[in-house]
Amino acid sequence: MTASAVEIQARTLAGYADASRLRQVQDRDWVLDRLTGDPRTLVDLGSGIGQLLQAALERFPSLEHAVGLERSEHRIAEAAERLRPYGDRVSLHQADLTAPEPLPHRADVITSTSVLHWLYPHEERLFAWVAQHLAPGGQFLLTTYHPARDSDGFGGEDELVREALTAVGIERSFVPGVFRRGDVLPIATRTRTPDDLAETLRPHLAVADRLERDAVVTVDGAEQYAHFHAATFGDYYAGLVPPDRRTDFFRAIGETAWRRQQERGWVSHMPVHLWQLTAH
Ligand SMILES: C[S@@+](CC[C@H](N)C(=O)[O-])C[C@H]1O[C@@H](n2cnc3c(N)ncnc32)[C@H](O)[C@@H]1O
Repeated sequence: MTASAVEIQARTLAGYADASRLRQVQDRDWVLDRLTGDPRTLVDLGSGIGQLLQAALERFPSLEHAVGLERSEHRIAEAAERLRPYGDRVSLHQADLTAPEPLPHRADVITSTSVLHWLYPHEERLFAWVAQHLAPGGQFLLTTYHPARDSDGFGGEDELVREALTAVGIERSFVPGVFRRGDVLPIATRTRTPDDLAETLRPHLAVADRLERDAVVTVDGAEQYAHFHAATFGDYYAGLVPPDRRTDFFRAIGETAWRRQQERGWVSHMPVHLWQLTAH
């Protein structure tokens, strides 16, 4: 059986420019609006397809070095294409942020949007790295998502996945066991609470300010959400089902989201925090 378009999309995390309009892209302007002055070096951690770097290069002619660190080679390739017009103002590096390597740059600004939960439980390594790479007076702007969490540690996307797994034949009460056996941590467990995060940050960085907004995801149809899921979560959850059921899984994710949209007027909503941090 050949893989469906959405399965192929999940493998390569493709389609993010479109999908991120539903949620993640809003973080970009929220973060950049906090910047004042004439930054010369900005490092974006988990830079994806380079959207934040591009917006920063457009806004700040002072920017001499826009640096992206990202794990996915597909995303780096897409970012390189997008940022080609900015020439040697840009450098992109493949990196695993759970074990970040030193960089030759000290940054006026370090940013990271919609990434931190993927680094759980090793976020502290990145915070130590950031503290070492901020130039004097520099700041780290970080967005973090905080879905409500139930007694299984499920919340946010996990809830849609639980419905979709049930739709493809897994008994609801078995779903937490399926996650454990598949070595998949619920996203609502990966996303620490704001208090827990404040504790994790404390040894390395000082909180200068913290803002909060509600991120609401709405969709126009089932297929749109299936593509959002594939572009955002890739195979993370889809790997829980055998390859011959994945097309059904993505379809069920889309249908679950669309049902919610019709019942509630939204698919999901959760608080997002913007942390403005400085070195001690
Ligand atoms: C939801 S996307 C956010 C991308 C971009 N920052 C944005 O706001 O649109 C999460 C990104 O983090 C990257 N990522 C996840 N784990 C990573 C790791 N351990 N090291 C580096 N990048 C990672 C993913 O490849 C993906 O591009």
